Amino acid sequence: QTFSIAVIGGDGIGPEVIAEARRALNAALAHEDTTLQYTDYELGTSHWLKTGETLHEETLESLRAHDAILFGAVGADPQDKRIPSGVIERDLLLKLRFELDHYINLRPTRTYPGVPTPLAAAEDFDFVVVREGTEGPYVGNGGTLRRGSEHEIATEVSVNTAHGVRRVVADAFRRAASRRGRLTLVHKHNVLTHAGNLWRRAVEEHAAQYPQVSWDYMHVDAATIHMVADPQRFDVIVTDNLFGDILTDLAGAVSGGIGQAPSASINGEGTAPSMFEPVHGSAPDIAGQGIADPTAAVLCAGLMLDHLGLDQAAARIERAVHTQLSQWAEQDTGQGLSTTERGEAYVSRIKAL
Ligand code: NAI
Ligand code: MG
Repeated sequence: QTFSIAVIGGDGIGPEVIAEARRALNAALAHEDTTLQYTDYELGTSHWLKTGETLHEETLESLRAHDAILFGAVGADPQDKRIPSGVIERDLLLKLRFELDHYINLRPTRTYPGVPTPLAAAEDFDFVVVREGTEGPYVGNGGTLRRGSEHEIATEVSVNTAHGVRRVVADAFRRAASRRGRLTLVHKHNVLTHAGNLWRRAVEEHAAQYPQVSWDYMHVDAATIHMVADPQRFDVIVTDNLFGDILTDLAGAVSGGIGQAPSASINGEGTAPSMFEPVHGSAPDIAGQGIADPTAAVLCAGLMLDHLGLDQAAARIERAVHTQLSQWAEQDTGQGLSTTERGEAYVSRIKAL
Protein backbone atom coordinates (compact mmCIF):
# COMPACT_ATOMS: atom_id res chain seq x y z
CA GLN A 1 0.00 0.00 0.00
CA THR A 2 1.31 3.43 -0.93
CA PHE A 3 0.09 6.76 0.38
CA SER A 4 1.07 10.00 -1.26
CA ILE A 5 1.94 12.69 1.23
CA ALA A 6 2.32 16.38 0.42
CA VAL A 7 4.94 18.01 2.62
CA ILE A 8 4.85 21.74 3.27
CA GLY A 9 7.80 22.55 5.50
CA GLY A 10 7.11 26.28 5.34
CA ASP A 11 9.17 28.93 7.11
CA GLY A 12 11.49 29.22 10.06
CA ILE A 13 11.59 26.08 12.19
CA GLY A 14 8.87 24.45 10.04
CA PRO A 15 11.28 22.54 7.74
CA GLU A 16 13.56 21.72 10.72
CA VAL A 17 10.85 19.94 12.70
CA ILE A 18 9.23 18.34 9.66
CA ALA A 19 12.53 16.64 8.79
CA GLU A 20 12.38 14.84 12.16
CA ALA A 21 8.71 13.96 11.64
CA ARG A 22 9.63 12.27 8.37
CA ARG A 23 12.38 10.27 10.04
CA ALA A 24 9.92 9.14 12.68
CA LEU A 25 7.40 8.15 9.99
CA ASN A 26 9.94 6.09 8.12
CA ALA A 27 11.04 4.35 11.30
CA ALA A 28 7.45 3.63 12.35
CA LEU A 29 6.66 2.05 8.97
CA ALA A 30 9.98 0.21 8.54
CA HIS A 31 8.44 -3.20 9.11
CA GLU A 32 5.08 -2.60 7.50
CA ASP A 33 3.94 -3.20 4.00
CA THR A 34 3.17 0.47 3.57
CA THR A 35 5.14 3.16 1.79
CA LEU A 36 4.75 6.89 2.04
CA GLN A 37 5.61 8.81 -1.09
CA TYR A 38 6.52 12.40 -0.26
CA THR A 39 6.11 15.42 -2.52
CA ASP A 40 7.63 18.65 -1.24
CA TYR A 41 5.85 21.93 -1.81
CA GLU A 42 7.63 25.21 -1.36
CA LEU A 43 5.07 27.54 0.18
CA GLY A 44 5.19 30.30 2.74
CA THR A 45 7.08 33.52 3.19
CA SER A 46 10.19 32.75 1.19
CA HIS A 47 8.05 31.49 -1.69
CA TRP A 48 5.97 34.64 -1.51
CA LEU A 49 9.05 36.85 -1.57
CA LYS A 50 10.37 35.00 -4.61
CA THR A 51 7.15 34.77 -6.59
CA GLY A 52 4.57 37.10 -5.05
CA GLU A 53 2.31 34.08 -4.73
CA THR A 54 0.74 32.65 -1.60
CA LEU A 55 -1.19 29.70 -3.03
CA HIS A 56 -1.63 29.30 -6.77
CA GLU A 57 -4.83 27.60 -7.99
CA GLU A 58 -2.75 24.90 -9.68
CA THR A 59 -0.83 24.22 -6.49
CA LEU A 60 -4.09 23.89 -4.60
CA GLU A 61 -5.41 21.43 -7.19
CA SER A 62 -2.21 19.43 -7.02
CA LEU A 63 -2.40 19.33 -3.20
CA ARG A 64 -5.92 17.92 -3.45
CA ALA A 65 -4.60 14.80 -5.14
CA HIS A 66 -2.61 13.64 -2.09
CA ASP A 67 -3.78 11.37 0.71
CA ALA A 68 -2.61 13.74 3.43
CA ILE A 69 -0.62 16.90 3.99
CA LEU A 70 2.17 17.23 6.52
CA PHE A 71 2.61 20.87 7.37
CA GLY A 72 5.37 22.60 9.37
CA ALA A 73 4.62 26.26 9.97
CA VAL A 74 4.43 29.43 7.96
CA GLY A 75 4.78 33.04 8.93
CA ALA A 76 7.17 35.90 8.60
CA ASP A 77 9.61 37.22 11.10
CA PRO A 78 7.78 40.29 12.49
CA GLN A 79 11.05 42.21 12.02
CA ASP A 80 10.82 41.62 8.28
CA LYS A 81 8.82 44.59 7.02
CA ARG A 82 8.64 43.31 3.44
CA ILE A 83 5.72 41.06 4.30
CA PRO A 84 2.37 42.59 5.16
CA SER A 85 1.04 41.15 8.37
CA GLY A 86 -1.45 38.30 8.05
CA VAL A 87 -1.11 37.72 4.29
CA ILE A 88 0.46 34.28 4.60
CA GLU A 89 -1.84 33.21 7.43
CA ARG A 90 -5.05 34.27 5.66
CA ASP A 91 -4.20 33.53 2.04
CA LEU A 92 -2.33 30.31 2.64
CA LEU A 93 -3.16 28.65 5.94
CA LEU A 94 -6.80 29.69 6.31
CA LYS A 95 -7.34 29.24 2.58
CA LEU A 96 -6.11 25.66 2.76
CA ARG A 97 -8.43 24.93 5.68
CA PHE A 98 -11.45 26.43 3.94
CA GLU A 99 -10.75 25.06 0.44
CA LEU A 100 -9.99 21.56 1.68
CA ASP A 101 -13.02 21.73 4.00
CA HIS A 102 -11.08 21.00 7.18
CA TYR A 103 -14.11 21.27 9.39
CA ILE A 104 -12.61 19.27 12.25
CA ASN A 105 -9.69 20.99 13.89
CA LEU A 106 -8.41 18.46 16.34
CA ARG A 107 -6.08 19.28 19.18
CA PRO A 108 -5.28 16.42 21.53
CA THR A 109 -3.88 17.64 24.82
CA ARG A 110 -2.24 15.43 27.39
CA THR A 111 0.39 15.22 30.02
CA TYR A 112 2.98 12.46 30.26
CA PRO A 113 3.58 10.87 33.63
CA GLY A 114 6.57 12.51 35.26
CA VAL A 115 6.90 15.28 32.69
CA PRO A 116 6.39 18.61 34.44
CA THR A 117 3.69 21.05 33.34
CA PRO A 118 3.16 24.69 34.31
CA LEU A 119 0.30 23.53 36.56
CA ALA A 120 2.16 22.85 39.77
CA ALA A 121 -0.33 20.51 41.43
CA ALA A 122 -2.06 18.99 38.41
CA GLU A 123 -2.85 15.34 38.07
CA ASP A 124 -2.24 13.87 34.65
CA PHE A 125 -4.89 14.72 32.10
CA ASP A 126 -5.80 13.74 28.58
CA PHE A 127 -8.46 15.52 26.57
CA VAL A 128 -9.09 16.54 23.00
CA VAL A 129 -10.56 19.74 21.65
CA VAL A 130 -12.69 19.40 18.53
CA ARG A 131 -12.74 22.91 17.12
CA GLU A 132 -14.98 23.74 14.17
CA GLY A 133 -12.68 24.84 11.36
CA THR A 134 -14.65 26.34 8.50
CA GLU A 135 -17.29 28.63 9.98
CA GLY A 136 -17.81 31.01 12.87
CA PRO A 137 -16.31 34.48 12.90
CA TYR A 138 -13.36 33.43 10.71
CA VAL A 139 -15.17 33.34 7.38
CA GLY A 140 -14.59 37.00 6.55
CA ASN A 141 -18.28 37.86 6.74
CA GLY A 142 -18.16 41.50 7.64
CA GLY A 143 -17.34 44.96 6.49
CA THR A 144 -16.28 48.45 7.36
CA LEU A 145 -18.48 51.51 7.02
CA ARG A 146 -17.24 55.11 7.18
CA ARG A 147 -13.66 53.94 7.44
CA GLY A 148 -11.39 56.34 9.27
CA SER A 149 -14.18 58.53 10.55
CA GLU A 150 -15.20 58.94 14.12
CA HIS A 151 -18.31 56.94 13.29
CA GLU A 152 -16.55 53.99 11.70
CA ILE A 153 -18.42 50.71 12.05
CA ALA A 154 -16.72 47.34 11.67
CA THR A 155 -18.63 44.08 11.68
CA GLU A 156 -17.38 40.50 11.73
CA VAL A 157 -20.42 38.26 11.68
CA SER A 158 -20.12 34.69 12.86
CA VAL A 159 -21.59 32.16 10.44
CA ASN A 160 -23.04 28.94 11.88
CA THR A 161 -24.90 26.56 9.59
CA ALA A 162 -26.93 23.57 10.72
CA HIS A 163 -24.90 21.36 8.38
CA GLY A 164 -21.59 22.76 9.63
CA VAL A 165 -22.47 22.52 13.30
CA ARG A 166 -24.06 19.07 13.06
CA ARG A 167 -21.16 17.43 11.27
CA VAL A 168 -18.57 18.63 13.77
CA VAL A 169 -20.79 17.72 16.71
CA ALA A 170 -21.27 14.25 15.20
CA ASP A 171 -17.50 13.84 14.98
CA ALA A 172 -17.09 14.93 18.60
CA PHE A 173 -19.65 12.38 19.79
CA ARG A 174 -17.89 9.61 17.83
CA ARG A 175 -14.60 10.54 19.46
CA ALA A 176 -16.16 10.72 22.92
CA ALA A 177 -17.76 7.29 22.42
CA SER A 178 -14.36 5.78 21.63
CA ARG A 179 -12.69 7.53 24.58
CA ARG A 180 -14.04 8.01 28.11
CA GLY A 181 -17.58 8.88 27.02
CA ARG A 182 -17.71 12.51 28.14
CA LEU A 183 -18.47 15.47 25.91
CA THR A 184 -18.45 19.13 26.87
CA LEU A 185 -20.02 21.74 24.63
CA VAL A 186 -18.26 25.06 25.10
CA HIS A 187 -20.01 28.22 23.92
CA LYS A 188 -21.47 31.39 25.34
CA HIS A 189 -25.13 30.77 24.68
CA ASN A 190 -26.36 33.08 27.39
CA VAL A 191 -25.34 36.08 25.27
CA LEU A 192 -24.66 34.60 21.81
CA THR A 193 -28.16 33.19 21.79
CA HIS A 194 -28.69 32.53 18.08
CA ALA A 195 -25.54 30.57 17.40
CA GLY A 196 -25.51 29.11 20.91
CA ASN A 197 -28.99 27.75 20.48
CA LEU A 198 -28.12 26.02 17.20
CA TRP A 199 -25.07 24.42 18.81
CA ARG A 200 -27.04 23.29 21.81
CA ARG A 201 -29.79 21.70 19.74
CA ALA A 202 -27.21 19.92 17.58
CA VAL A 203 -25.67 18.41 20.71
CA GLU A 204 -29.06 17.42 22.15
CA GLU A 205 -30.04 15.73 18.87
CA HIS A 206 -26.84 13.69 18.71
CA ALA A 207 -26.92 12.84 22.40
CA ALA A 208 -29.98 10.68 21.74
CA GLN A 209 -27.89 8.51 19.39
CA TYR A 210 -25.04 8.15 21.88
CA PRO A 211 -26.53 6.94 25.17
CA GLN A 212 -23.02 5.85 26.24
CA VAL A 213 -21.78 9.46 26.08
CA SER A 214 -22.69 11.85 28.85
CA TRP A 215 -22.47 15.51 27.96
CA ASP A 216 -22.47 18.85 29.70
CA TYR A 217 -22.33 22.49 28.75
CA MET A 218 -19.84 25.12 29.82
CA HIS A 219 -19.52 28.82 29.02
CA VAL A 220 -16.21 29.57 27.36
CA ASP A 221 -15.03 31.91 30.11
CA ALA A 222 -15.69 29.24 32.74
CA ALA A 223 -13.92 26.72 30.53
CA THR A 224 -10.69 28.73 30.74
CA ILE A 225 -10.84 28.46 34.52
CA HIS A 226 -11.47 24.73 34.51
CA MET A 227 -8.73 24.11 31.97
CA VAL A 228 -6.26 25.57 34.46
CA ALA A 229 -7.87 24.46 37.72
CA ASP A 230 -9.04 20.91 36.95
CA PRO A 231 -8.24 19.94 33.34
CA GLN A 232 -8.66 16.25 34.17
CA ARG A 233 -12.44 16.79 34.12
CA PHE A 234 -12.38 17.06 30.31
CA ASP A 235 -12.52 14.23 27.79
CA VAL A 236 -13.79 15.72 24.51
CA ILE A 237 -14.59 19.42 24.11
CA VAL A 238 -16.54 20.59 21.07
CA THR A 239 -16.66 24.28 20.26
CA ASP A 240 -16.74 26.88 17.51
CA ASN A 241 -13.83 28.24 15.49
CA LEU A 242 -12.98 31.29 17.61
CA PHE A 243 -13.50 29.76 21.06
CA GLY A 244 -11.56 26.71 19.90
CA ASP A 245 -8.67 28.79 18.68
CA ILE A 246 -8.27 30.45 22.05
CA LEU A 247 -8.97 27.37 24.19
CA THR A 248 -6.46 25.24 22.31
CA ASP A 249 -3.63 27.70 22.88
CA LEU A 250 -4.48 27.54 26.56
CA ALA A 251 -4.60 23.75 26.32
CA GLY A 252 -1.11 23.78 24.81
CA ALA A 253 0.15 26.04 27.55
CA VAL A 254 -1.20 23.95 30.46
CA SER A 255 0.16 20.69 29.04
CA GLY A 256 3.67 20.21 27.74
CA GLY A 257 4.01 23.62 26.15
CA ILE A 258 3.93 24.80 22.57
CA GLY A 259 6.78 22.58 21.39
CA GLN A 260 4.73 19.47 22.17
CA ALA A 261 1.27 20.37 20.89
CA PRO A 262 0.16 18.63 17.67
CA SER A 263 -2.98 19.31 15.67
CA ALA A 264 -4.91 17.90 12.76
CA SER A 265 -7.16 19.74 10.33
CA ILE A 266 -9.48 17.02 9.16
CA ASN A 267 -11.89 16.70 6.29
CA GLY A 268 -14.13 14.12 7.90
CA GLU A 269 -15.95 13.33 4.68
CA GLY A 270 -12.75 12.40 2.85
CA THR A 271 -13.44 14.74 -0.07
CA ALA A 272 -9.98 16.33 0.26
CA PRO A 273 -6.77 15.51 2.12
CA SER A 274 -6.52 16.29 5.81
CA MET A 275 -3.58 18.27 7.13
CA PHE A 276 -1.35 17.59 10.12
CA GLU A 277 0.48 20.51 11.68
CA PRO A 278 2.07 21.50 14.97
CA VAL A 279 0.15 24.18 16.88
CA HIS A 280 3.26 26.34 17.01
CA GLY A 281 4.36 28.83 14.36
CA SER A 282 7.62 29.41 12.51
CA ALA A 283 9.42 30.67 15.64
CA PRO A 284 11.70 33.20 13.90
CA ASP A 285 13.46 33.82 17.23
CA ILE A 286 15.04 30.36 17.20
CA ALA A 287 14.95 29.46 13.50
CA GLY A 288 18.17 28.22 11.94
CA GLN A 289 19.76 27.36 15.28
CA GLY A 290 18.79 23.70 15.29
CA ILE A 291 17.22 23.93 18.74
CA ALA A 292 13.49 23.73 17.94
CA ASP A 293 11.63 20.96 19.71
CA PRO A 294 10.41 18.51 17.03
CA THR A 295 8.02 16.74 19.44
CA ALA A 296 4.85 18.42 18.16
CA ALA A 297 5.76 17.61 14.55
CA VAL A 298 6.58 13.99 15.44
CA LEU A 299 3.22 13.66 17.23
CA CYS A 300 1.56 15.13 14.11
CA ALA A 301 3.14 12.33 12.12
CA GLY A 302 1.43 9.91 14.51
CA LEU A 303 -1.94 11.63 14.07
CA MET A 304 -1.47 11.36 10.31
CA LEU A 305 -0.75 7.63 10.46
CA ASP A 306 -3.80 7.15 12.66
CA HIS A 307 -5.94 9.07 10.17
CA LEU A 308 -4.63 6.91 7.30
CA GLY A 309 -5.75 3.83 9.21
CA LEU A 310 -2.21 2.79 10.16
CA ASP A 311 -3.02 2.60 13.85
CA GLN A 312 -0.18 0.30 14.89
CA ALA A 313 2.47 2.54 13.40
CA ALA A 314 0.67 5.53 14.91
CA ALA A 315 0.72 3.88 18.33
CA ARG A 316 4.48 3.24 18.00
CA ILE A 317 5.12 6.95 17.53
CA GLU A 318 2.87 7.95 20.41
CA ARG A 319 4.45 5.37 22.72
CA ALA A 320 7.99 6.29 21.71
CA VAL A 321 7.41 9.96 22.43
CA HIS A 322 5.71 9.11 25.69
CA THR A 323 8.52 6.90 27.03
CA GLN A 324 11.28 9.19 25.79
CA LEU A 325 9.74 12.30 27.37
CA SER A 326 9.30 10.42 30.64
CA GLN A 327 12.92 9.29 30.55
CA TRP A 328 14.23 12.78 29.90
CA ALA A 329 12.12 14.08 32.77
CA GLU A 330 13.15 11.30 35.15
CA GLN A 331 16.85 11.58 34.46
CA ASP A 332 16.71 15.34 33.98
CA THR A 333 18.54 15.01 30.66
CA GLY A 334 16.06 16.67 28.30
CA GLN A 335 17.42 20.20 28.39
CA GLY A 336 19.69 21.67 25.79
CA LEU A 337 19.19 18.90 23.25
CA SER A 338 19.24 19.84 19.60
CA THR A 339 16.38 19.23 17.18
CA THR A 340 18.16 16.27 15.61
CA GLU A 341 19.23 14.80 18.96
CA ARG A 342 15.59 14.74 20.01
CA GLY A 343 14.52 13.37 16.65
CA GLU A 344 17.14 10.63 16.82
CA ALA A 345 16.05 9.67 20.32
CA TYR A 346 12.48 9.22 19.08
CA VAL A 347 13.67 7.20 16.09
CA SER A 348 15.65 4.79 18.28
CA ARG A 349 12.66 4.40 20.60
CA ILE A 350 10.39 3.64 17.65
CA LYS A 351 12.86 1.10 16.29
CA ALA A 352 13.08 -0.59 19.68
CA LEU A 353 9.29 -1.12 19.86
P1 NAI B 1 5.50 30.74 17.52
O1 NAI B 1 4.70 29.55 17.89
O2 NAI B 1 6.24 30.67 16.25
O3 NAI B 1 6.53 31.06 18.69
C1 NAI B 1 6.11 31.40 20.01
C2 NAI B 1 7.25 31.11 21.00
O4 NAI B 1 7.36 29.69 21.19
C3 NAI B 1 8.62 31.56 20.51
O5 NAI B 1 9.38 32.01 21.58
C4 NAI B 1 9.24 30.29 19.94
O6 NAI B 1 10.64 30.27 19.99
C5 NAI B 1 8.62 29.21 20.83
N1 NAI B 1 8.44 27.95 20.08
C6 NAI B 1 7.50 27.69 19.14
N2 NAI B 1 7.64 26.46 18.66
C7 NAI B 1 8.70 25.91 19.31
C8 NAI B 1 9.36 24.64 19.23
N3 NAI B 1 8.94 23.67 18.39
N4 NAI B 1 10.43 24.42 20.04
C9 NAI B 1 10.83 25.37 20.88
N5 NAI B 1 10.26 26.59 21.00
C10 NAI B 1 9.20 26.86 20.22
O7 NAI B 1 4.48 31.98 17.51
P2 NAI B 1 4.76 33.49 17.09
O8 NAI B 1 6.11 33.91 17.52
O9 NAI B 1 3.58 34.22 17.56
O10 NAI B 1 4.70 33.49 15.51
C11 NAI B 1 5.83 33.41 14.66
C12 NAI B 1 5.35 33.35 13.23
O11 NAI B 1 4.62 32.13 13.02
C13 NAI B 1 4.39 34.48 12.88
O12 NAI B 1 4.63 34.86 11.53
C14 NAI B 1 3.02 33.82 12.99
O13 NAI B 1 2.06 34.44 12.21
C15 NAI B 1 3.30 32.43 12.53
N6 NAI B 1 2.38 31.38 13.04
C16 NAI B 1 2.10 30.35 12.19
C17 NAI B 1 1.33 29.29 12.60
C18 NAI B 1 1.15 28.17 11.65
O14 NAI B 1 1.80 28.08 10.64
N7 NAI B 1 0.27 27.24 11.95
C19 NAI B 1 0.76 29.24 13.96
C20 NAI B 1 1.17 30.34 14.80
C21 NAI B 1 1.95 31.37 14.33
MG1 MG C 1 -4.35 30.10 17.12
